[in-house]
Amino acid sequence: MILIEYGLFFFMAEFSKIEPSYISKDGCRLIWKEVEEDDQHVIVLNKDEFEQIFEILLKDSTGIVRLEDEYSRILINTDVTQFQLKELKTLEVKTSILRKNVLEYRNVPHEPKPIKIYPKEFYPSIEIEKEDDDEQNKLLNAVLTSKNKDTVSESDLFRVMATRRSTRNFDVSKAIEQWKIEKILAAADTAPTAGNFQGFKLVYIKNKEIKKRLVEAANNQPYVNAPLVLVFCIDPSRVKMNFPPEILTKFSLQDATLAAAYSQLAASALGLSSIWIGMLDEEKVKQIIESDLKPSSILCIGYPQQKRPPKSRRKLKELIQVIE
Ligand SMILES: Cc1cc2nc3c(=O)[nH]c(=O)nc-3n(C[C@H](O)[C@H](O)[C@H](O)COP(=O)(O)O)c2cc1C
Repeated sequence: MILIEYGLFFFMAEFSKIEPSYISKDGCRLIWKEVEEDDQHVIVLNKDEFEQIFEILLKDSTGIVRLEDEYSRILINTDVTQFQLKELKTLEVKTSILRKNVLEYRNVPHEPKPIKIYPKEFYPSIEIEKEDDDEQNKLLNAVLTSKNKDTVSESDLFRVMATRRSTRNFDVSKAIEQWKIEKILAAADTAPTAGNFQGFKLVYIKNKEIKKRLVEAANNQPYVNAPLVLVFCIDPSRVKMNFPPEILTKFSLQDATLAAAYSQLAASALGLSSIWIGMLDEEKVKQIIESDLKPSSILCIGYPQQKRPPKSRRKLKELIQVIE
């Protein structure tokens, strides 16, 4: 068991296992589990990196394996192996335990783990009499205006703005109430969009395995495996305007971004916290969610482990330039 430094926080984590990669055919995932939380840290190795480790461990030797990001490296010493990663993260495992796992894993053939997902339509729990074509907003309004089922003190928009703070540490033991999820989803649908063509799609990820795969597609950011995970995708084909394709793509990117921002504010107003994920591999995410639509961001939401004050910003006089 070791102490991992991660940003300003310290977690206790223990090496757990090696399993086939979800994404690369010959790759594998090394997993550490947090001792006190239902969370995990994952390192994805390609075939070549894994083979290098295998060779060193097989010979009972020591050595360094550099990973393809050209920063991270694995230091194999006699007693402990250190995985020195980007963003100050360092994971450790006893070399004897790693050797046992690597040799066992290498001994048997492994297939990547494909998961079939079946997208479904989303139906909020609120019931309305009937939604006619000329009353399309009836259900949306019903969800948005449904009575809050607990006292949320921050529902004033400016208070929400003034107190919002991203979190990367969710209280995974606390489930998000369904009515809050519905309001967050509905909030996305209230954002302005170019020509009102709503050039975006929102993918609500409920599947736990898919969440884990998204961690991998988002540069192994572990907090992507959050209680509520929303992938915002751009859909330029919906923007039926007579402009060049690059303008339609720009519009749909702005549509998807605004929608995510509305959901993020809604989450804060409901006493939740979130982290916006822009660092993602678009192709991997498309593959995972089985969509042709490009993802623009992933919004990860949950109850924060700890409420923290907002981060400081530059002074308004530096931000705003006045042209008279
Ligand atoms: C476009 C964009 C991309 C971001 N991408 C990431 C990301 O990939 N990973 C991450 O941990 N945070 C990401 N963030 C969150 C920012 O780091 C965070 O919002 C910023 O530090 C300000 O903190 P605050 O939201 O608490 O005010 C992103 C935010 C934005 C707006």
